[in-house]
Amino acid sequence: SAGQKQLAAAPPVDSARQDASREVTILFGSETGNAQSLAEDVHQKLKDRGFQTTLSSMDDFKPKNIKKVQDLLIITATHGEGDPPDNARSFYEFLNSRKAPKLEGLRFSVLSLGDQSYEFFCQTGKDFDKRLEELGGERFYARVDCDVDFDEPAAAWIDGILSKLEEDKAVNPANEQKILSIQPQTKSQPKLADYSRTNPFKAEVIENLKLNGRGSNKETRHLELSLEGSNLAFEPGDSLGIFPKNAPGLADSIINQMNWKPEDIVTINKQGETLPLREALISHYEITRLTKPMLTQAAQLFSNERLNELLKPGHEEELRAYLDGRDLLDFVRDFSPKEVPSSEFVHILRKMPPRLYSISSSLKANPDEVHLTMGTVRYKAFGRNRIGVCSGQCAERVEPGDFLPVYIHRNPNFKFPSDPDTPIIMVGPGTGVAPFRSFLQEREETGVKGKTWLFFGDQHFKTDFLYQVEWQKWLKDGVLSKMDVAFSRDSAKKVYVQHRMLEKSRDIYQWLEEGASLYICGDEKNMAKDVHQTLTKILEKEGGLNREEAENYLTDMRHQKRYQRDVY
Ligand code: 2AM
Repeated sequence: SAGQKQLAAAPPVDSARQDASREVTILFGSETGNAQSLAEDVHQKLKDRGFQTTLSSMDDFKPKNIKKVQDLLIITATHGEGDPPDNARSFYEFLNSRKAPKLEGLRFSVLSLGDQSYEFFCQTGKDFDKRLEELGGERFYARVDCDVDFDEPAAAWIDGILSKLEEDKAVNPANEQKILSIQPQTKSQPKLADYSRTNPFKAEVIENLKLNGRGSNKETRHLELSLEGSNLAFEPGDSLGIFPKNAPGLADSIINQMNWKPEDIVTINKQGETLPLREALISHYEITRLTKPMLTQAAQLFSNERLNELLKPGHEEELRAYLDGRDLLDFVRDFSPKEVPSSEFVHILRKMPPRLYSISSSLKANPDEVHLTMGTVRYKAFGRNRIGVCSGQCAERVEPGDFLPVYIHRNPNFKFPSDPDTPIIMVGPGTGVAPFRSFLQEREETGVKGKTWLFFGDQHFKTDFLYQVEWQKWLKDGVLSKMDVAFSRDSAKKVYVQHRMLEKSRDIYQWLEEGASLYICGDEKNMAKDVHQTLTKILEKEGGLNREEAENYLTDMRHQKRYQRDVY
C-alpha cells in the first residue's frame, strides 16, 4: 500500500548531501533523438568528472526503481499537443498514477525541449517537474525550457547542473575523497565527424527530380546530395537535417511593407555578427511562423491596440487562432508597425530551425551520397498561396550544382534489427516509404536474408507509385519478400495501407508471433494512429485478445524495440 511505500522511502532531504555515494540517474524521453544526445552528453561529462552515473531511456527504466534514485536528471521532449514522447509514456503515466511512490530524498532537475510555436510548449518537461515536486522530491536546479534553437539554453543547464553537483561534492569530504580516488578522466568521446548541427556541411546537390507523373495532385521530389569530403556517416533510419532559405519574394514583401531597406545592416547574434537585412530575413531568421513570445516582444516595440488586446488574459483562444497558419508578412500587414527600425525588429524573430528528412538511401549502396524523398508542401491560407520553407526551396530554387547546409541526425528510435533473421514489416505510405528504401538498399548490399514485407500507399497507381521499378526488382531478387499497395483514389471507395493490412491479418499476426519487428513511417495525425488501431484489431481478431491485451501486446513490442515509428 501507499503507506508502506512511504515508510520505505529514501532518507529525508537534509541527509542527502551527507551521502557519500550519491548516484546521478539520467532519464531521457526522446522524440527525434535530441533529448537522447543531450542526455548522453551530460552522462559523459559527469563520468569525466568522476561521478557515479547511469543513463537510460525512460522506456528502459523500471518505474518502481524510481524509489532508489538519488539525484535524477530528466531530459525530455514534448510531443504533439503536449503529450510525452513514445518512449516516455509508460514512465510518465506511472509517475502520474496513484501507484507513484513518495519521493522524499530524491533530488531532481528537468531539461525540457519544445517549440514555442506550439501551445503546449515543453509541457511534458513541465509536468515531470511539477509531479516530482508533488511526490516530495527536491528541485536542486531550476528547470530550463528550450525552444527549437536549444543549443545555448541546454548547454547552460548542463553547466549549471555540473557546477551545482560539484559544489555539493566539495562540501562533503567523504564524497570528495571518493572522487579523488576515482581519477577523473578528461578525454571526451571520439568524434565521428566535425560537421554537425552547429557546423553543417555544405553538400552539393547532384540530382533533383520530381517523382510523380503528369497529372498527379502530389509533388514528391527525389534529391541526391554529395557527402564527399565530409566524413559524415549514417545508418538506415537516420535523418538529414537541412538549413533551408526563405523565399526571397516573401522577405522582399516584408521589407516593402515596413519601408525598410534591404541593405540595412542588422546584428544577428550575441557575438555581434551582422548581415544585410534581406540576407538575414532569407537565410538566418524564421519568417513563416509566429509565436506568442514573439508577439509579446513586438507589443513592447510598438503600440497597437489590437495587438495588446490579443495578448490580454482571456483571449487565449483568439490568440491561438491568430497564430495558426500566419506568417511574418501577415503580421506586419495586420499591425503595420511602421515606426520600428529593422535592427530592433529582427531581435523578436526566432533563428531559422533546420528541417529533418528521413534518409532514403544506404551509404553502403551509395557511398558519399545521401538521398531524400521530399513532399512539396503547398496550400492557400488567408488569401495567399503558401509553400513549405525547405520543400518549397527544393522545388523551386535548387538545382544540381547548388549547395545545401546539412548534418546527420541520428535516430536511435528507428533502427532495424541487428539479428538478420528477424522478419520485418514496414508500413510507409507516401514519403513515409523513404527509410524503407534505405533499408532495402542496405539489405541488398549486405546480402542479408531475413523476411521483409512492405505496405505502401499513395493516391494513384499511374502517377504516384514512388520508386516502383526498385521495389519490383527487389521483389524479384528476394530482398523484399512481400509487398502490398493501396492506391487510395483509383477506386470509388478509399483504400489505405491499413485496409490492406487488415486483409492480410492472419499473415501479419503470424509474422508478429514469429518475432517480427514492425516499422511505421509517415503521417502521424491520421495514418500512424489508424495503423495502430488496425494492429490492435488484427491482434484481437487473430490472437483472441481483448482491446487492453492487444494494447499491451504492442506496448511489449515497443519495449522490445520491435514496434518503432518515425512519424511527422
Ligand atoms: P488520400 O490522399 O487519398 O486521402 C499517401 O499520402 C497516401 O496516404 C495517400 O494515398 C493518402 O490518401 C493516404 N492517407 C490519407 N489518410 C490516411 C490515413 N488516415 N491512413 C492511411 N493512409 C492515409
